[in-house]
Amino acid sequence: MSADPTSFASAAKCVSKHLNLNLYVDFETHVIRGSVEITVEVLENRFSTLTLDTRDVKVVSVSANGQEARFTMGPKHTFKGTPLEITLPFDLSRGQHVIVGVTYETSPGASALQWLSPEQTAGKKHPYLFSQCQAHHCRSMIPCQDSPSIKHTYYAQVSVPKELVAAMSALRDGQEVDPQDSHRTVYRFRQPVPMPSYLMALVVGSLESRKIGPRTTVWSEKEFVDRAAQEFSETERMLQTAEELVGPYVWGQYDILVLPPSFPYGGMENPCLTFATPTLLAGDKSLSNVIAHEISHSWTGNLVTNKTWEHFWLVTHTHAHVHAHTGKSASIRVHARRLNEGHTVYLERMIGRRLEGEAFRQFKALGGWKDLHDSVSTFGAKNPLTNLVPSLQDVDPDEAFSSVPYEKGFALLYHLEELLGGPEVFMGFIKSYIQLFAYGSVTTDQWKDFLFTYFQDKVDVLNKVDWNAWMFTPGMPPVKPQYDTTLADACAALSQRWIQAKEQDLSAFTQADINALSSHQLIDFLSLLLQEVLPVSHVKKMQEVYDFNSCTNSEIRFRWLRLCVRSRWEEAVPLALKMASEQGRMKFTRPLFREVFNFAKYREEAVRVFLAHRATMHPVTSGLVSKDMKVSVDQ
Ligand code: BES
Ligand code: ZN
Repeated sequence: MSADPTSFASAAKCVSKHLNLNLYVDFETHVIRGSVEITVEVLENRFSTLTLDTRDVKVVSVSANGQEARFTMGPKHTFKGTPLEITLPFDLSRGQHVIVGVTYETSPGASALQWLSPEQTAGKKHPYLFSQCQAHHCRSMIPCQDSPSIKHTYYAQVSVPKELVAAMSALRDGQEVDPQDSHRTVYRFRQPVPMPSYLMALVVGSLESRKIGPRTTVWSEKEFVDRAAQEFSETERMLQTAEELVGPYVWGQYDILVLPPSFPYGGMENPCLTFATPTLLAGDKSLSNVIAHEISHSWTGNLVTNKTWEHFWLVTHTHAHVHAHTGKSASIRVHARRLNEGHTVYLERMIGRRLEGEAFRQFKALGGWKDLHDSVSTFGAKNPLTNLVPSLQDVDPDEAFSSVPYEKGFALLYHLEELLGGPEVFMGFIKSYIQLFAYGSVTTDQWKDFLFTYFQDKVDVLNKVDWNAWMFTPGMPPVKPQYDTTLADACAALSQRWIQAKEQDLSAFTQADINALSSHQLIDFLSLLLQEVLPVSHVKKMQEVYDFNSCTNSEIRFRWLRLCVRSRWEEAVPLALKMASEQGRMKFTRPLFREVFNFAKYREEAVRVFLAHRATMHPVTSGLVSKDMKVSVDQ
């Protein structure tokens, strides 16, 4: 019985150690055909069956050490997909290894993959394919034990049309003309550091590259490559800063791939090759904290991965069966993952501190607290999804996604930093924690135990922390950390002027109001206004004096257009729908569609624009926007 509520595979029976992939990428049929050979370590005696996760995959054949093996596909679950039940033609004992081979085809609708037509690319000439496996989509690209508690290395050979380039979350290991078809190239990759399946990643497209540092190359369609090289020129400095903070970078290469606009996230920490949305290309490097964040995952998440609750019981041999069926086991697992994002935001902001100063970190931390506030009011302060430890049994991880894990996790770590002696002291703990658990997986209890061990002389302080309120109670945390407001004060003051302004006061606003504000501060200013509803006269005046309509910084534009639509300024509706559909980062696309949808007069227009774009959207994004706008699947 697996305690990972998103996976059918059981890490208690056996664990994958290595994947050997042979993939053929077919742009005609939007299918990847191929095979995966999984080296599995057996953890129990009389072992003869195992379950792999799949989703919408056609399994052709299964083998075990080269011998044919029997298999059946179980019933399809809404978000877990379909278990692939394999019966080996022999028994194995604890400690033995077996190579399980699966020959398969993906489906054109695979949830991990987006297939773009040439018209959807910048160059308009060639098709494009990219994957996004986190959280539970790897199984739609590769049958595997798709659970974050299991780590494996991998080797891959990928055949693609010869005018295209393939890249993966791994080191490049050469290429050659496909011996089977001279119109194709086979690219080889190796990932020698064990990593969980959600970090598997593949991209195929007309890619160009530019080296921007000793271990960094940026990749994208040629139309973006110069801008990307500019925007991310600080990458090596960030990597060095991270290494000073937490120790050596073990993944060798740190490349960045800038994807087409439909990439659903800001960034994704795929090892050796961070995936990034083109909406980061602000022109002034002001959105590069996302890169600092993904760099940080090289330690927190990719190197030290949080283990499942089930794995914890496996090693300690206690009451696995008592708890395996309860929601509680699942909760703790998710909690572990939430601390993972919390640590990453903490590190991201420590890098910001080294590069921009403490006032900047304080400003970002306060901004994060406001984001947490917004999420808590959106969900409702009693909603269990706002727990650091929610019960997510039977909840699709994509639907549970929010700022809560990031910002409640960060706030807890910052609170501990304050209690235990400040940033330098607390970083000492984080660094030791990473070194101790590097290459492994860790439970929340191990993290907490180590915290108590490291701060042995401050146990009385730690015991005063209201752990239960931080972890198991919905709503805002029990303590608000004291953030310095130096950079935030100007944003608050200007937003208050707008909120309090009467019609006759509007003439007092001028362009000069924002001259001294950085783009970070403009983002904060607009976020503050989004906590209110401004009269339409105000947003019209704001356009006149600040001209945000011509702003291309995606974080500013997103908040501005939301604000206008919320004030019922009809002229902003087409701009909002344009932004919602021309890029597909879910952080922007979902709220923009939702905002227009909630404007009764334009509800149908929002649905119409969505339906017109749906077929060319990322499968996960279109599924979630459908739900947000209550559009049925077959409409
Ligand atoms: N790993 C996440 C993205 C993710 C989370 C993908 C959950 C799928 C499921 C990534 O590290 C991330 O957090 N990206 C953020 C940027 C960050 C600065 C908070 C994003 O995409 O905006
Ligand atoms: Zn992250």
